[in-house]
Amino acid sequence: MALSFVSAPSLHSIMQDSYTITSLFDTFDLQGTALKNRIVMAPLTRSRAPHDIADERIALYYTQRATAGLIVSEGTPISREGQRYLFNPGIFTAEQIAGWRLTTQSVQPVGGKIFAQIWHVGRVSHPSIYEDGRLPVSGSSKRPVGAVAFGYDESGKPGFVEPPAPRQLETREITRIVEEFAQSASPRMGSFSTCRTMTRSTRPTPNSPKRSGSAGSPTFTS
Ligand SMILES: Cc1cc2nc3c(=O)[nH]c(=O)nc-3n(C[C@H](O)[C@H](O)[C@H](O)COP(=O)(O)O)c2cc1C
Repeated sequence: MALSFVSAPSLHSIMQDSYTITSLFDTFDLQGTALKNRIVMAPLTRSRAPHDIADERIALYYTQRATAGLIVSEGTPISREGQRYLFNPGIFTAEQIAGWRLTTQSVQPVGGKIFAQIWHVGRVSHPSIYEDGRLPVSGSSKRPVGAVAFGYDESGKPGFVEPPAPRQLETREITRIVEEFAQSASPRMGSFSTCRTMTRSTRPTPNSPKRSGSAGSPTFTS
C-alpha cells in the first residue's frame, strides 16, 4: 500500500496561503482603537464605590489590569433611574465624571485602554436606590420574577432585594433616556477611550477583516 506524506515545507506554505495565525498577544485594530493585545477584560460590577463615585481605589483596581488590550468598565449607570446596585459608580453627575477621570488618567499613561460600559438597567432596580423612592421603569409594568437588585432591605441594610413591578414608560419618555445615553457617551465624560460605533452586527471577531465603517458616535465611550 502506498502512503503519501505532505512534506513540512509544503504544509507550511499551505497554511500560509489559507490562514493568518494570530496569537492573543498580537495587536488588534478595533475600528481605529489600537489594542496592544487581544485580551479584553469583561465588565464586572464590583459595588465598591462610596457614594456611587469612582474613587482612587477603583483607579488602582483598573490600573492593575491595564496590561489587558482593552478593559470594559463595570456597568456604569447613565442616570439614577438606570441603577441596579448600590455603590455602583455612575456617569451622570459632575462628581461621578471627575471620579472616573481618576481611573482614565491612571490607566491611560501606562498604556491601558478603557471603555465605559454605559447602562440603564430598566426594571431590575429598586425604589430604595432612589432618593425619592419612586418605582423603577420599564417597557411594561411586569415584575421581573427571579431577578435581584442590590439596594437597602427593610431594616435599611444594604442587601439583595426583589424588584417590584415597574412603572411602564410612556413612549415620549424614551427620547429622554436616549439623550441620557448620548450625554454619557459624550467625549467630555470621564475621558474614556473612544472607538467608532460598535453594534451587535458590526462587532468584530478576532480574525474578522478590518472594517472601513464610517465614523459614528461613540457607544461605549466618552
Ligand atoms: C461579579 C460579576 C459582575 C458582572 N458585572 C457585569 C457588568 O457590570 N456588565 C456586564 O455586561 N456583565 C457583567 N458580568 C458578566 C461578565 O462580564 C461575563 O459576561 C460573565 O461573567 C460571563 O463570562 P464567562 O463566560 O467568562 O464567565 C458580571 C459577572 C460577574 C461574575
